[in-house]
Amino acid sequence: MSYKLGEVILSRETIARRVREMAEEIANDNGRDKGLVVVGILTGAAFFLTDLVREMPEDMDVRVDFMSVASYGDSTTSSGVVRIFHDLKSSIEGKNVLVVEDIVDSGLTLSHLIDLLNGRNPASLKVCVLLDKYERRKTEVKVDYCGFRIPDKFVVGYGLDCAGMWRHLKDIKYVIEE
Ligand code: IMP
Repeated sequence: MSYKLGEVILSRETIARRVREMAEEIANDNGRDKGLVVVGILTGAAFFLTDLVREMPEDMDVRVDFMSVASYGDSTTSSGVVRIFHDLKSSIEGKNVLVVEDIVDSGLTLSHLIDLLNGRNPASLKVCVLLDKYERRKTEVKVDYCGFRIPDKFVVGYGLDCAGMWRHLKDIKYVIEE
């Protein structure tokens, strides 16, 4: 099977506007001096996270850390298995944590990850996703901040890939299977 790029579902301008709103909401909820550890899930969420944290106020105590997990191979369906390839550099015990993910689909990746991180006793743990494919949920995940709810179609760009391709696109586009 081969894939080609389809039409734009979310333009760079639409994404940028929403990312600014989300950063403001997170800053207001969290408080500027309380400290927030923003945990990005590599690789997809790195693109979203770097834009998101740069929209947060300069006087806010923000730290950034990354984890690398995978639940997908080279196909477009979830394996349901989450493997950790790279763990956080710092302890999150007693910290306010915001997990940032590119997309929640079945919810399996995030729910496993939330259990794992909650086991490390953070003061609080919230979840922020850019995209939510709510129709495909297999397990319930509490998403505190969501950029956009999208239909059940495979998308790429702004960090999201298809078999490793198209992460670098500025807009988010549909993928067409041929
Ligand atoms: P879940 O475990 O099914 O919720 O899958 C979450 C992961 O699946 C995301 O981190 C993405 O890597 C991947 N994923 C799900 N849908 C898409 C899509 O439309 N495009 C690219 N990656 C996707």
